[in-house]
Amino acid sequence: MTAPFSKAAMPDECTDQPALRPVRTVLITGAAGGLGRAFAVSFAAQGDRVVVADTNVEGAQQTVALLEAAGGTALALQANVTQLDSVTQLAADASAFASDGKIDVIINNAAIYATVTRSPFEEIDVDEWDRVMAVNLKGPWLVTRACSSYLSDGAAVINLSSATVLSGSAQWAHYVASKGGVIALTRVLAKELGERNVTVNAIAPGFTLTEASYGLIEGAADYGVDRGSIKRASEPDDIVGAALFLAGPGSRYITGQTLVVDGGRQFL
Ligand SMILES: NC(=O)c1ccc[n+]([C@@H]2O[C@H](COP(=O)([O-])OP(=O)(O)OC[C@H]3O[C@@H](n4cnc5c(N)ncnc54)[C@H](O)[C@@H]3O)[C@@H](O)[C@H]2O)c1
Repeated sequence: MTAPFSKAAMPDECTDQPALRPVRTVLITGAAGGLGRAFAVSFAAQGDRVVVADTNVEGAQQTVALLEAAGGTALALQANVTQLDSVTQLAADASAFASDGKIDVIINNAAIYATVTRSPFEEIDVDEWDRVMAVNLKGPWLVTRACSSYLSDGAAVINLSSATVLSGSAQWAHYVASKGGVIALTRVLAKELGERNVTVNAIAPGFTLTEASYGLIEGAADYGVDRGSIKRASEPDDIVGAALFLAGPGSRYITGQTLVVDGGRQFL
């Protein structure tokens, strides 16, 4: 008779996920609203201490108030991800907020997104190009750079790219190029931080119904739904699951990857 399945009979490497540290500190940039706030709510709900960073400090404080009202522990910090001094202070403050000085998860979510002007590439304003690159691409590099010495063994860095990289969305060269750069940066950081057991992955959301998205497109709730395998619009919580997974115990051997979360509109 075949013995019933028993975990005890399995080799450790088949059964045991590495344990997460009991109290983790999660730093989320651009968390004054939108996806950043949705990430903050879900990480706090699983007991993590959450640092909510944004240029919009009032919005960051509102996010923290939400988390605390639900019993979470969180800190709002004003930070500009394009400024070395600002992210150096942010990293030090996040480390001080952590119970043992260590940062366990970084979500590089801050970006200029819905306000980026749509123009043919010949007409994109050069200063706007530089601003988009500074926030969307230089930002994740600077934040990770500033936090590097505080990262715990087994930490996770998650960078927000976009599924627009796959479609090559016309008249948005600066935004799309910045998000393509995020994928490339993710791979380099994965190689370098892998030596310290830190994973670095990107999430590429499809069009998702945040407040910013409603401002971007008329009829946002129906936009692109017919092109998806799953025939509904994407909500912030659809993206949150990917972040929880990439920061969780089941993904400690996944690094340098880009997880497309777009309801099957495009395939890698
Ligand atoms: N919503 C979507 O459809 C969608 C799709 C693909 C990718 N994304 C990406 O997901 C992320 C979140 O998107 P969202 O819809 O919540 O956008 P959002 O505009 O609501 O959020 C961006 C946040 O970043 C902050 N921010 C901007 N510049 C900053 C800076 N210099 N320093 C610190 N904070 C700064 C803003 O204040 C804002 O709170 C972005 O990276 C975006 O590019 C969004």
